[in-house]
Amino acid sequence: MKMTGIKCVVFVVVLTFLPSLASEDVEVSCVFMESCILPCSFQGGSDTVIHWIQETAGNTLVHSYYHNQDQLAKQGQRFKKRTSLFKDQISRGNATLQLTGVEVEDQGRYKCYTSINTLNGNKESFINLIVDAPVCKVDIEQVDYRVTCSSEGIYPEPELTWSTPFNTTPTVQKTEHQLYNISSSLNVSDSVTDLVYSCTVSTRRNWRRATLFKPTSISGSDTETTIPCTSANTPLTGFIWRFNHSQIILNQTRTDIPYTVSKEWRQQVKSVSESGSITLQDLSSDREGIYTCELSNEQETIITNTVLRIEKSQGKSA
Ligand SMILES: *[C@@H]1O[C@H](CO)[C@@H](O)[C@H](O)[C@H]1NC(C)=O
Ligand SMILES: *[C@@H]1O[C@H](CO)[C@@H](O)[C@H](O)[C@H]1NC(C)=O
Ligand SMILES: *[C@@H]1O[C@H](CO)[C@@H](O)[C@H](O)[C@H]1NC(C)=O
Ligand SMILES: *[C@@H]1O[C@H](CO)[C@@H](O)[C@H](O)[C@H]1NC(C)=O
Ligand SMILES: *[C@@H]1O[C@H](CO)[C@@H](O)[C@H](O)[C@H]1NC(C)=O
Repeated sequence: MKMTGIKCVVFVVVLTFLPSLASEDVEVSCVFMESCILPCSFQGGSDTVIHWIQETAGNTLVHSYYHNQDQLAKQGQRFKKRTSLFKDQISRGNATLQLTGVEVEDQGRYKCYTSINTLNGNKESFINLIVDAPVCKVDIEQVDYRVTCSSEGIYPEPELTWSTPFNTTPTVQKTEHQLYNISSSLNVSDSVTDLVYSCTVSTRRNWRRATLFKPTSISGSDTETTIPCTSANTPLTGFIWRFNHSQIILNQTRTDIPYTVSKEWRQQVKSVSESGSITLQDLSSDREGIYTCELSNEQETIITNTVLRIEKSQGKSA
């Protein structure tokens, strides 16, 4: 008799725990500054009450709804003007919340509590919100004998790796929005035979790479000169040509729209090849300097610097 009693108790316990085991937290991944959808459904009915609560931040009220309208008097300060429910969906049992301008602080566990006017009409479900700020751009540049690779505004903390193993630890800084800036510098010398420096910044969401080719020098004619650009193996999404690091000669941000030549260079730019090489004409001596070609595609930026010396062509008629 005693044994049966224990078995019975065990049986009841298992039954009551089964429903909560079945409703695990749903993981929702959102992008920094974008909007985020936190799904929640219940059995629709009348006198609906909805409470969205962020449990991680000490049970902050995110959004409430009852008496057929939003009730935002006790809403947490951080969520002001950032939340909304899909009103037309509530009667159908949809309490999904939209959160705009997602920040790193929004990460954590959210409870969706709903109740309707029936017996056992209460329901709780949980969302685990994760925020990512993907790697948008990686910059690489050489100043004298120092090559620096950097990237900004990333979450969570990124990793930075050079193509060849160098014994350097990157510098990581945290911004006011709890994002990470990362940079790493290498001392390079003339004797180093490496012709290319390549650096990759990655997080759990994505990665981007920037590659810098060692500068080359060419002599060009003042009538017409083509400066090559190291081509990428994958299709391009855009390119930029710069002069002496700062002046933009031309750029193309998308391949389906034509490139734009800046006003100062309109007389000089004759054409641009499919691979990005540029053909210049009528070059005066003040166009001598460093030409930088920056190609990019989905994941890579490839930078090639060329030092141009201009040779006067003989017997050129004006
Ligand atoms: C709830 O409504 C949102 C917004 O209209 C929709 O995207 C989502 O699919 C709906 N969810 C359910 C379970 O119907
Ligand atoms: C991170 O990078 C951004 C963009 O360049 C800059 O405005 C900000 O000051 C940097 N923050 C830190 C802490 O270095
Ligand atoms: C690189 O050079 C700078 C100055 O020239 C020096 O302060 C720094 O310690 C060097 N770094 C490495 C890793 O050698
Ligand atoms: C490229 O050119 C367009 C149009 O002139 C300009 O709006 C844009 O800012 C340029 N992009 C860069 C990275 O310079
Ligand atoms: C461009 O850079 C070169 C080499 O650094 C310099 O000699 C030249 O004066 C610069 N040209 C202009 C127009 O700034």
